[in-house]
Amino acid sequence: MESIIVRGGRRLSGEVRVEGAKNSALKLMAASLLAPGISRITNVPDIADVEVMSEVLSVLGAKVTRVDHALTVDATDITSFVAPYEMVARMRASISVLGPLVARYGQARIAMPGGCNIGSRKIDMHISGLAELGVEIHMGHGFIDAIAPAEGLHAGHVMLEFPSVGATENLLMAAVVARGTSVIDNAAREPEIVDLIAFLNGMGARITGGGSPTVTIEGVESLHPVEHAVVGDRVEAGTFVVAGALSGGPITVRGFDPAHLELVLQKLRQTGCRVSLLPDGVTIERTQPIRPVDIQTLPYPGFPTDLQAQFMALLAIAEGNSIITENVFENRFMFADELVRMGADIRIESHHALVKGVAQLSGAPVKSTDLRAGAALVIAGLLADGETVVGDIYHIDRGYERLVEKLQALGADVERREL
Ligand code: EPZ
Repeated sequence: MESIIVRGGRRLSGEVRVEGAKNSALKLMAASLLAPGISRITNVPDIADVEVMSEVLSVLGAKVTRVDHALTVDATDITSFVAPYEMVARMRASISVLGPLVARYGQARIAMPGGCNIGSRKIDMHISGLAELGVEIHMGHGFIDAIAPAEGLHAGHVMLEFPSVGATENLLMAAVVARGTSVIDNAAREPEIVDLIAFLNGMGARITGGGSPTVTIEGVESLHPVEHAVVGDRVEAGTFVVAGALSGGPITVRGFDPAHLELVLQKLRQTGCRVSLLPDGVTIERTQPIRPVDIQTLPYPGFPTDLQAQFMALLAIAEGNSIITENVFENRFMFADELVRMGADIRIESHHALVKGVAQLSGAPVKSTDLRAGAALVIAGLLADGETVVGDIYHIDRGYERLVEKLQALGADVERREL
């Protein structure tokens, strides 16, 4: 099994460019199923999850090609409506083909996505929202069977009890061809949602309100293929920005819209970091000890849960105590146990983590519990005393392209090795 080995103590500096957002690219690939013909998606990250989604689309009959960071999906001839268990189990984002398949073909059979290391990952809001559009859903034997009315989907008014990213996406991709005008209230507002809406409107959809809690979709007869560049990955960017805060910097992170990290950058300033904005990124530097701050993860534009672990690694060596509250997933503190192995002083009480800053972490063998925790362990090793060996790095490869090479280019003493 490969591991990532980090030897702490180097001050990082230089410039790094992030890729297109994993959490948009996967959905744009699914949305390509909505129209016969060839859609072309650029700025696609070279990561394992994109490979899995390509396989899912190919199993459905689409033809997917990828050259460098450009990907095409030819969805002319879809021959199957079944997303098999072994695929969905590998990547729960496969559930994103549910909406497009029901919209275009009137049916879909999707294996129930399993839970994962961060929570149960339910899909009740996907199901109840699609039912509002006329979709009949049967669950059994580990599968979701979705059938649209013979006359096609009709518009509906969906009030989400929580601004679920996945549910908002599936509902958008189904409502675009539903008869009439649909409304999603309490919709997710993430930049990846706004990117999907731009993609769908580029296909001929008529969606307004993207990025606000109320999204309106005026159904259209049919859609056509589109060419679209994936929005920059704010979570990959945030990971490198925190690495700059940890190691001192200055580090410049480019290839994303800094407005997508507004609250994160505000929190970093509160820790004492100097953050300056660029049109397509930020420069971060730290010249003084880290001040403690409290963090509450919330749906966008709140503090992103996908940067919670990275921030915990930073606050673990702050001069004082911080409280981190995880409001989005019910089990996203598993990472803390790994950080404690590195000498962090963290106590978990339900959704709260009390992080008491220590002078320095010590390098240790640790395991990635999910892809963001894995990246957080790697950057925690940047300042730790000695060598940190991060295992289970397949998690990291799902969502980070060339993480080791990018950190090496910033001066880190880090490598991948078969252990
Ligand atoms: C997306 O997951 C992202 N994944 C996650 O990123 C991200 O953490 C999450 O949004 C929140 O921003 C992808 O885009 C592939 P949710 P998703 O539906 O869509 C509960 C990463 O690191 N819920 O907003 O699954 C759910 O259990 C990943 O890249 C229901 O109860 O997130 C969770 O507790 C990790 N019923 C909460 O809502 C539902 O029907 C947020 O889920 C749907 C969700």
